Amino acid sequence: MNGRPRTTTDSGTPAPSDEFSLSVGPGGPLLLQDHYLIQKMAQFNRERVPERVVHAKGGGAHGFMEITEDVSQFTKAGLFQKGARTDLFLRFSTVAGELGSADTQRDPRGFAIKFYTDEGNYDLVGNNTPIFFVRDPQKFQDFIHSQKRRADNHMRDHNMQWDFWTLSPESAHQVTFLMSDRGTPASWRHMHGFGSHTFLWYNAAGEKFWVKYHLRTEQGIKNFTDAEATAMIAQDADFHIRDLYDAIKRGDHPSWTVNVQIMPFEEAADYRFNPFDLTKVWPHGDYPEITIGRFTLNRNPANYFAEVEQAGFEPSNFVPGIGPSPDKMLQGRLFSYPDTHRYRIGANYQQLPINAPKVPVHSYNRDGAMRYANMPDPVYAPNSMGGPAAFEDLYAGDTYHVTGEIMRSAYRPHAEDDDFVQPRALWENVLGDEDRANLTSNIVGHASAPEMTREVQKRVVEYWTNVHKDLGQGVAQGLGID
Ligand code: NDP
Ligand code: HEM
Repeated sequence: MNGRPRTTTDSGTPAPSDEFSLSVGPGGPLLLQDHYLIQKMAQFNRERVPERVVHAKGGGAHGFMEITEDVSQFTKAGLFQKGARTDLFLRFSTVAGELGSADTQRDPRGFAIKFYTDEGNYDLVGNNTPIFFVRDPQKFQDFIHSQKRRADNHMRDHNMQWDFWTLSPESAHQVTFLMSDRGTPASWRHMHGFGSHTFLWYNAAGEKFWVKYHLRTEQGIKNFTDAEATAMIAQDADFHIRDLYDAIKRGDHPSWTVNVQIMPFEEAADYRFNPFDLTKVWPHGDYPEITIGRFTLNRNPANYFAEVEQAGFEPSNFVPGIGPSPDKMLQGRLFSYPDTHRYRIGANYQQLPINAPKVPVHSYNRDGAMRYANMPDPVYAPNSMGGPAAFEDLYAGDTYHVTGEIMRSAYRPHAEDDDFVQPRALWENVLGDEDRANLTSNIVGHASAPEMTREVQKRVVEYWTNVHKDLGQGVAQGLGID
C-alpha cells in the first residue's frame, strides 16, 4: 500500500477496485451486485446543484476585517467596534453569464461578503458599482431576462438589452458605469466594492443613521479596454479566478479599506433626491466618506464546490445595530435570497460549514432534508422548560414611523429625482478625455451588434443625448445616425 489510504465507498467500507467492474467472466456482462459501481454512477448523476440564476460564474476567498476607528456613536454592531477583528468570506462574480462563461465579459461584478460575527452572520451582498439598473424589484426579473438568452434562438441579444435600457431611463447611471472601462475590470483585486443600498445603523442609545458602504481597493483601480477584455475571453475564460487564486497562493494578499457615508436619520426626508433610490449615489460633497477599517483576503478555498458554489449570501442577514432602509430594491432582496437558496442548495443550506454562523444556533426551526443539528426539547416557544428565549431589547432602535396610502408609485417627490443628473455629473466632472472616448466607443461597439434594429439604435442615441449632448453626438456619429 506504500502508506496510501485505501479508497472506500461513501459508507466507509473498503472499495473493491478503482478500475474494474464486476463481470461474468473477463469480457462478460456486469452484475447488479456491484454496488460500488452503481454508487459511483448514481452519485455522479447528482453532482450538480442548479447554478445561480444570476451571478453564476465566480470565485471567492477567506479573509478578515479589522476596525480602526470608533463609530460606536453610529452603530452598536460588534463587528464595527474599534479593535474588532472578524473573519469573512468574499465571493466575486459576473452577473449574466452562466457557470462556464468567461470572466472578462462586460458586466457589473458581484462583491458579496459574509462576516462571521460574534452576533451571528452579517452579509453585505453588493457589487463593484454603487448603483443599479432599476429602482423597483418589480422590474428586476425583466431586466435580467433582457440580459440573458432569447426564447427562440437561445442567444444573448444586444437589441433586447438596449430595448429594455432605453425604455427604462433610470438605468442610465448604471449603464454609464457598465459601458465605461469599469465594466471590464482587469481583476477582482483591482476594483472597489459597494454595499450600494442605503442601510440603517443605530447605536446603543437607539439613535438612528442612514449609511452607505464603500470598499476601496488598496491595489488601485485597473481596467481592461474593450479590446483587451475581448482578447482575454479567448485566452483564458477563468482569468479572474486564476488571478485571485494565484495572488493569494503567492502571499500577495489583496486588501480594501472600509469606508462609510453617514446621513443623520432626519435628513432623509427632505434631501434633494430620494436617498433610498438605488440608481443614485450620495455626492461626497454632501456626505464625505469616513475610513473605519480595512479587510484582507488571505486564504483560498480548499474545495470550490463546498465553499464557493454552496455559499449562500442573503441581504436579510443583519446583526443588532444594522437594519434595512425603505429602499424598495433592498426590501425585495430580503425575500429573494433565502428563497433561492432553499431551492438551489436545499432547505438546510445554513447548516453547511460555509454558511453556518460561528456562534451557537438556538433556533426553533427544525427538520427537513439533510438537517443534522436540531435543538432538543422543548420544541416550541414560549415554554416554561428553560428553552431559549428572544431578548427584543437587542433590537431597540431598528424601528421607525411610516404611514401612507397603499399604492404603486414611481415616488419622485424630491427636487433632483432625475434619471440623468448623476450620469451627467460622471461625464462632466469625473471622466477624463480617455474615459470619455472609451465610453463612447464601447457604447458604439455594443450597439452596433448585427441584431440591433435601427429603431432601437435611434433610441440609444436619444438616451445618451439625455445624459450629455456631446456623448449623444459621439454615439450618433459612431452609429451613423443623423
Ligand atoms: P466626487 O468627485 O467626490 O467623486 C467621484 C467618484 O467617482 C469618486 O468616488 C471616484 O473614486 C469615482 N470615479 C473616478 N473615476 C471614475 C470612473 N471612471 N467611473 C466611475 N467612478 C469613477 O463626486 P460626487 O460624489 O459628487 O459624484 C459625482 C459622480 O461620480 C456621481 O454622479 C457618480 O456618477 C460618480 N461616483 C460617485 C460616487 C459617490 O459615492 N459619491 C462613487 C462612485 C462614483 P475612484 O476613482 O476611487 O473610484
Ligand atoms: C445573486 C436576486 C439585486 C448583488 C442573486 C441571486 C438572486 C438574486 C436570486 C442568486 C443567488 C444564489 O443563487 O445564490 C436579486 C433580486 C434583486 C437583486 C430579486 C432586486 C430586486 C441585486 C443588487 C445587487 C445584487 C442591487 C448589488 C447591489 C448580487 C450578488 C449576487 C446576487 C453579488 C451573487 C451572490 C453570490 O456571490 O453568491 N441575486 N438580486 N443583486 N446578487 Fe442579486
